[in-house]
Amino acid sequence: MSKSNSSPKTPQKKQRLPLVLGALAGLIFGGGLATFLASIPETTEAPATATTGKAAIGGPFSLVDQTGKRVSEKDFLGKPMLVYFGFTHCPDICPSGLQVIAGALDALGSEADKVTAVFVTLDPERDTPAVMGEYVKSFSPKIVGLSGSLDEVKAMAKTYKVFMQKVVDEKSGTYSVDHSSFMYVMNRSGEFAQHLPHSVSIDDLAAALKKQL
Ligand code: NI
Repeated sequence: MSKSNSSPKTPQKKQRLPLVLGALAGLIFGGGLATFLASIPETTEAPATATTGKAAIGGPFSLVDQTGKRVSEKDFLGKPMLVYFGFTHCPDICPSGLQVIAGALDALGSEADKVTAVFVTLDPERDTPAVMGEYVKSFSPKIVGLSGSLDEVKAMAKTYKVFMQKVVDEKSGTYSVDHSSFMYVMNRSGEFAQHLPHSVSIDDLAAALKKQL
């Protein structure tokens, strides 16, 4: 997301929480929710739970990689893992984050093979494993693309405290997916180490990954 970032109605950061609460109230009372959520920009605030301990972020998952192979968190143990969520139709935020990830992997040189970077779709209806494969490859052949059923994707997003909301444009019948866009660094044991904003620099991301080697 999101084209709505440039909207004059875009709320400032400090006003977003009441807006989200307002949107939830909208959900309860019905009507206008999609419009309301569409006005919420891709968030850059820290997840409220990030400081409460390693167990708060991440956990078991079962998804399908771009080769069609079913994988779980166990397949990635032993190497630090960078986890980033998004979708291939995302117009700006996801691609810029993936460029930073690709840049950081380049910056790590031969050590890039000692880490795993995964991009998890929040839009598995359109982002099949094959679509994910083509997409991540356009940024870096080293990025792993993960997809699965909507329930599987939602379950993983939940363990990472990722916000996701399908937003339908009723005029065109198309949809977008609003989502939070942090990068999560997990250590070699699969435990949460730190999160970074999608706007992190290549150098800072490379340093964060190196710290886990
Ligand atoms: Ni996005």
